[in-house]
Amino acid sequence: PHEYKIASMPGDGIGPEVIDAALDVLDAVARYSGEFTLSFDNLLWGSDFYKATGTYLPSDGLETLKKYDAVLFGAVGAPDVPDSVSLWELLLTMRGSLQQYANVRPVKCLSSIEPVSRHVRPRDIDWMFVRENSEGEYAGQGGRTHSGFGWEVATEVAIFTRHGVRRIMRFAFETAASRPRKLLTVVTKSNAQRYGLVLWDEIAEEVSKEFPDVKWDKMLVDAMTVRMVRNPQSLDTIVGTNLHIDILSDLAAALAGSVGIAASANIDPTRKSPSMFEPVHGSAFDITGKGIANPLGAIWSSAMMLEWLGEKQGSMLVMNAIEKACAEGNTTGDLGGKLNTKQVTAAIISMLANPVRAYATGTT
Ligand code: NAD
Ligand code: IPM
Ligand code: MN
Repeated sequence: PHEYKIASMPGDGIGPEVIDAALDVLDAVARYSGEFTLSFDNLLWGSDFYKATGTYLPSDGLETLKKYDAVLFGAVGAPDVPDSVSLWELLLTMRGSLQQYANVRPVKCLSSIEPVSRHVRPRDIDWMFVRENSEGEYAGQGGRTHSGFGWEVATEVAIFTRHGVRRIMRFAFETAASRPRKLLTVVTKSNAQRYGLVLWDEIAEEVSKEFPDVKWDKMLVDAMTVRMVRNPQSLDTIVGTNLHIDILSDLAAALAGSVGIAASANIDPTRKSPSMFEPVHGSAFDITGKGIANPLGAIWSSAMMLEWLGEKQGSMLVMNAIEKACAEGNTTGDLGGKLNTKQVTAAIISMLANPVRAYATGTT
């Protein structure tokens, strides 16, 4: 069997609670499938580590991460550390330094979960968001100054490079081409953002010529929010800038039931660095320690990790177990259920223990 070395980084808040759940599910699927083994190293780099040492990542932290086949990440952010420090020193540094330029965020309505809007039927939401993960407002350019003006000036510079936009556009067209409907929506704001987002529009036109099978259209991001709510079945694969898809993917998760189910993969498509898999949600101080966090975002992210590692069957087993557990009403409070984190995890593992049952009812 294949052996994979995984760096587990639970991080802060509910991060450890949902990563524990994901590790239990991964252990179970490896055991039941028998096709691969996983070993986990627990890396405790988060806000407690920062408060003790003054740094989020040890100086050789990135080199250490490169020894792994993949990284499983929980969340970072603590009430007593400025978010701009914790996120830039840990999460955004990892995404950038490990060249994870494609952030993939699937959103669909799981079995028996009611969408939040009355305009949306469960079968209408089956979306794949492709988020540019290295540029735009997240390029880290800008500053604050008083010089030359009578008042303080802060700039937050969005950077878009032809290279960066072309590689994510190709990735998005490839993703769209690999899905049954072969539909791609390119989200921009090229009416107001007249340089970077006009570049996006141009590159979309260019790259589309390489993918004649993909049917594609363009949307301005403001109108896109309306389309997601009013005409959700018209969407399939969606690509956009770092900031735009950050916002749209939270909206999408809420429409499909809860931000607690949203999964993501930070991918280095060249496979030179390990990719990182993490739920979309944050450290959720309001529910930390209560044991009620929805583990599905983290577990779904683990399924994405297995798929990226080449373990398609293992990944499908996990997704089918999630669907089956939901179908039987085994959900946390954010999805309207009555179970806690551990009970939902146990329900999923019991589905894994009986793959025939999970396969028979699975929808993926
Ligand atoms: P959040 O995602 O942590 O929480 C938003 C709301 O959703 C809260 O009410 C929370 O209880 C709920 N929620 C989130 N995940 C849930 C789950 N699994 N199950 C049930 N309910 C869940 O976002 P926030 O409140 O804006 O941010 C809190 C902290 O997390 C901040 O420090 C922020 O910077 C950080 N953050 C980190 C990440 C990350 O590490 N990837 C992502 C987003 C926010
Ligand atoms: C996400 C988060 C992060 C982002 C924050 C915490 C920096 O919101 O992964 O969606 O904006 O990318
Ligand atoms: Mn976000």
